[in-house]
Amino acid sequence: MLPETTSDDEGMPEQLTRDRPAAGRVTLRTDLRAVLPEAGAAVAVTAAVFVFLYVRVESGDSATVAVMPFMADAGTYWMYLLSQAFGWSALLWAWGTVMLGLLLSGQRPAWLPGSPQVLERWHRTTSLTTMALMFAHALMFAAELVRYEVELAWAERLWVGFADSFVPGWYDSGTGQIAIPIGQGALYLAVPLGLLFYVRHRIGANTWRRLHRFVIVVYVLSVWHTLLYGTNVWYGEWPRTVLWLLQLPVAVLLVLRLTRPARRAERLTRAGWGQGGRSLPRWTLRAAGRVAAGAVVLGLIAVVASGHDGGRERPAVTPSTAPHAPEGE
Ligand code: HEM
Repeated sequence: MLPETTSDDEGMPEQLTRDRPAAGRVTLRTDLRAVLPEAGAAVAVTAAVFVFLYVRVESGDSATVAVMPFMADAGTYWMYLLSQAFGWSALLWAWGTVMLGLLLSGQRPAWLPGSPQVLERWHRTTSLTTMALMFAHALMFAAELVRYEVELAWAERLWVGFADSFVPGWYDSGTGQIAIPIGQGALYLAVPLGLLFYVRHRIGANTWRRLHRFVIVVYVLSVWHTLLYGTNVWYGEWPRTVLWLLQLPVAVLLVLRLTRPARRAERLTRAGWGQGGRSLPRWTLRAAGRVAAGAVVLGLIAVVASGHDGGRERPAVTPSTAPHAPEGE
């Protein structure tokens, strides 16, 4: 989730960025220091979402409780609600850092305030915060499972909580069999793709750049996981519509990023097509990417306008089954 071109290595030959002395280089340590105020904001946002979710459970308005009636006691299931809250702040931060990354790697729009250096630093710190929030979301889910499994011995409780949350393919109930590995995929991809930035002087700026662009996959997996599994967006009501709508600016920026890339080498030119040979497959891939991104924008507009957003109908009577009830429910 870091910028593909950073102002400190823009335009430099790979050999130079690889050998650059450490003095002027951004390190993980300096970014971890810079992230602290923002981490405070992330905690505040998570706390606000937690209170919102808690109050909705207490008032009986919670969609989570409509889906899983046994969760009507917010005091007992507070860790589950905190996990949900971390999930939302993680998604919000992921949205922000992806938007910043797309803005930075495309041609800079005239209206964009702030120097590239400041925006890049924000992109790096929001990316670190996103990883921490994603981890906290999964960790609170694990904690809730550990709390719940009172009948098991401690070692087994800890193992169940850990394995169900962090081992792909372990969770074996309902939609979670697909949705949890998707979330884990997002988390496990985010960490290397984000942190490789700090060793790009070793792997080379080009290698890092090529790998880093796959970070969009992390974002797509995160949104997919939420749409598939989030009980607060389970029904075809306004929260689900808002979630879909928020993807529109990301898709539009992706189109702009692909059609107007900051790096000249990535632009589609007639000459690139005319050269044929080795550059032709790359040209075709880039053209296909632009068409696919345009199709995503149209698809999102169609989903929001038609209301066919994959949301279920809220039942008049509460269902007897749950998508991801803890074991034994
Ligand atoms: C190890 C990885 C992950 C695990 C075990 C996990 C687990 C879960 C579970 C069990 C739920 C259902 C909660 C509910 O009832 O709504 C959920 C929902 C959710 N997850 Fe994850 N997740 C993981 C990764 C992620 C990632 C990477 C993101 C994105 C940034 C994310 C964002 C969300 C959001 C926004 C919800 C909706 C919560 C709600 O409906 O209130 N998750 N996740």
